[in-house]
Order: sequence, then structure tokens, then C-alpha cells
Amino acid sequence: MKRKHFIHSLGATTLGALSIPAALSAANSDAHSDSNKPPKGKKLPEYIVPQGPGISNAPHNEAFWSAVATNFIRPEGFINLENGYFSHQPQGTLRYHIDAQTTINTQTSHFMRTAQTQAIEEARKAFAGFQGLLPDEVALTRNTTESLNIVIMGTRWQAGDEVIIGNQDYGSMVEAFEQAAARWGIIIKIADLPKDPSTDAEIVNAYCDLITPNTKMLHLTHMINLSGQLIPVQAITRKAKQIQPNTVVVVDAAHSLAHTPTDMSDLTNSGVDVIGGSLHKWLCNPIGVGFLYMKKSLIPSIWPLMGDTGADKNDIRKFEHQGTRPINSLQTIAKAIEFHRMLGSAAKFNRLTYLKLLWIGNKQALENFGKGLGILNDPQYQANMAAVTELTLLDAFKLQSPLFQFQRGGAIATAYVNGYSPTSLAKALMDNHKIFTVGIDHPIIKGVRVTPHLSSCAADCIALNRAFTQICVDLIPSPKTK
Ligand SMILES: Cc1ncc(COP(=O)(O)O)c(C=O)c1O
Repeated sequence: MKRKHFIHSLGATTLGALSIPAALSAANSDAHSDSNKPPKGKKLPEYIVPQGPGISNAPHNEAFWSAVATNFIRPEGFINLENGYFSHQPQGTLRYHIDAQTTINTQTSHFMRTAQTQAIEEARKAFAGFQGLLPDEVALTRNTTESLNIVIMGTRWQAGDEVIIGNQDYGSMVEAFEQAAARWGIIIKIADLPKDPSTDAEIVNAYCDLITPNTKMLHLTHMINLSGQLIPVQAITRKAKQIQPNTVVVVDAAHSLAHTPTDMSDLTNSGVDVIGGSLHKWLCNPIGVGFLYMKKSLIPSIWPLMGDTGADKNDIRKFEHQGTRPINSLQTIAKAIEFHRMLGSAAKFNRLTYLKLLWIGNKQALENFGKGLGILNDPQYQANMAAVTELTLLDAFKLQSPLFQFQRGGAIATAYVNGYSPTSLAKALMDNHKIFTVGIDHPIIKGVRVTPHLSSCAADCIALNRAFTQICVDLIPSPKTK
């Protein structure tokens, strides 16, 4: 995309839709407005993150977060609240990725034959360092699906081996285990994860009660994509290892990486053996990069998905035999990390949690959250709280996500409205309110899943809250028709 178009997009869509307060708008107008294009030769800033104290406990500071949002190009004509599939990249990242692609496209095979290996190793080091892992325990894959298939398909299963999965695990992982069951005769046991648990112990027991001497693997989804529920992986792992020390604990961290303040090393320190994740979700890296963490001692016993007899069986790189691949997407990892670090994990998590609580409008949850951060009496916090309806008080509105676990919350939540199928509700939000979400029709969780992002603003969540209110009110028969 041409730079001129970048500037135009920001001026026409992002600023227009966000109505940034005057002071901030003025401060950033140099970079953003079409009429204030930077002078020829002056580069646009790589990332726009205003400096300011205490942002981690200021998730309601729209001046700050609206400026952060201008890093992203928002779509025209609708509000996107479905950012759980993958993340759009900040413009600085996008530009870096395109520049790296241009270099490879110019140097072609010379790059691949002379610089590729070093680029991959630098990317591995950057990611491992970011998450407190050792580079020799990290493979760079294409996504979570590939990472977890490597371990599920590569394990030396015996008929009768047992694996424990959750009833809200991601479909692709369930299918991988089902295929392993059909192929090798393993037994799948399914933990009944409570939708709205009141204690961690309920979740820990749902998994650990299923452990037997035949349990070979325990598969945990750190953040459930259907509802946003974050499960206590560390507590489950510690207990599972106490009961059956040889159980291999595998974590699907697709949604928790760079979304929650938990580093992957926090998980490995509790005894987790394998983790798969996607960098194109909350780290905002270009599409097509995932990671596989595997504990060093486990590596030699797992077969690679793609045949590789060249690499040492102890070398994590044996899992990376992918053929020709877009190295520019790996080169961009360090850049994506830079953006993440400019905000910090805690600030990002609090902002995303705040946006979720705002559209749901539950006063008790908002009060607890505001109190916890010491911002409850801030006029801006109070004003936004007053602007939303408490959807959880409306008869027709049914939240499908745990609300009071917001300390482990994050962006994702799902809800349905009586009388609407998930698809028809998503359609009503899009057709009548120009808000894009996704219908989830899972045996356990049904409704529309709402996922704000750093490109979202409080006004988007207030608009969604009003749309839900309207939909619920329209269901109430008027006195005449009663
Ligand atoms: C919990 C969970 N696991 C795994 C995946 C798969 O991620 P990917 O498509 O990047 O492999 C997703 C995708 O949304 C997910 O939500």
C-alpha cells in the first residue's frame, strides 16, 4: 500500500470513528490527518505509543488508547469486534513485513542460500527471549494447529494409552486426538470444564479426577476460544504431575500468548512439557507463524510431522522441516515484540478486559475491576459506566462467559439472546448495527463471540451495548400486542 493511502486511511476512518479528544488529536495531527501530511522525506513514526505514566492501571484512558488504536487501519463501514480469528497488524509491523518481503523478492535464492538460516535463528532467539524460554526448546511453526499436531501425531502411542482433553477444546485438536484414536487405539477422556466456575479447584479436579495409571497426555486449552475463560494451567499441571509424574502436559496457548500477562516460561516453570501457540493472534505478527515449545528431554521421543532424518533427533529444528517458507514473516517477529513491549503485557490485558466488561455493562464487575485498579472514581471511568446498560439484567440476554473471573479475563466473551440462533444474532448485529462478531454454535457454548482489540475503542463497546439493548427491548411485546 502506498504511504499516501496509509495517511488517508487513518484520517478518514480511524480518527473519524474514534473521535479522539481535542488535545490528543492536535498532538498527533502531524502524523495522521490528510491535510497535515509529513513533509517530503520525513518518515511516519514506526509506532504511535504516547508516553505517559501509569498506563497499566489506566485502561479507561481513551486519549492514550485511541492513539494506540491509530496504529491499526480499521475497516470502513462496520465496527470489527471479531478479532479472535487473527489480529491485524499495526502499520509499523505491516510496513516492516513488506520491506522484508521486498528484500527477499530482490535477492531471491541468494537470500535463501546465504541469509535464511541466520534469520530463522534470530527470530527463534527473539521469541524465546520474549517469553523467557530457551531457544533450543522453541521451534517456529506455521500456527498452533501445526505445533500441536506435531506432538499429537508424533507421540509413540500404544493402544490403550489415555489422553485427557477438555470439552471446550479447539476443534482441530479434538480432531487430531480422534485421528490418533482411530490410528493407534488411544482412549480419549473428556473433562467437563464448568462454564462459570466459582473456584479454581473445580477446574483442577475436572481434569485431575480423570487421571489413571494409563494417562499418557493431558491437553489443556489455556484460554478457551469459545468463551474467553482462562483456566488455571499451572495449578492443574502441578496437581497432575503429583498424581502421575510421567503425564505429558500439553498446552494450547493460541489465545493466551501475548494476551494475558502470563509468559510461556511461567507455564513451563510449573511443569508444562509442550506448548503450541500462534503469533498472528495477540502478538499481532503477520499470519502464518506459530511456535512449539518442547521440553528438551522430550524432543528425542517425538517424531517430526514432516520426515527429517537429517537433523539430530535431539534438535528442536527437526520439527521445522517445512520446505520453502515466508522468512519475512519470521523476520517480523522481533518487530511485533517491540510493539507489544511498548505497551506492556499488563496494560494490554487490562485494556482488553476493560473493553469486554464495558460492553457487557455489569456494574458489579465494572466496580470490582475499577476498584482493583484504583480508578473507580475517575470521572472518565464513571462516565463510561453510566453510558452502558447492564445487559446481564435483561431477561433475554444470556452471557456465556465467566464474568467475575475477570482477573483472568481478557478480551473474549460470548452471549446469546433468547429467540436468536448464533448466526441470526451475528447477522442482526451486522445488518442493523454494523457491528461484526461471529456466531458460535458449539454443543456447550452458543451465541455471538465478541472480541475487541487494541484497535477498538470505548465507543465501539458502548455501541455494541446499545445494539444488544435494542435487540432485547425489541423482543418485549408492546402493551397492545400482549
Ligand atoms: C484455542 C485455539 N487453539 C488453536 C487454534 C488454531 O490456531 P491456528 O489457526 O493459528 O492454528 C485456535 C484458533 O482460533 C484457537 O482458538
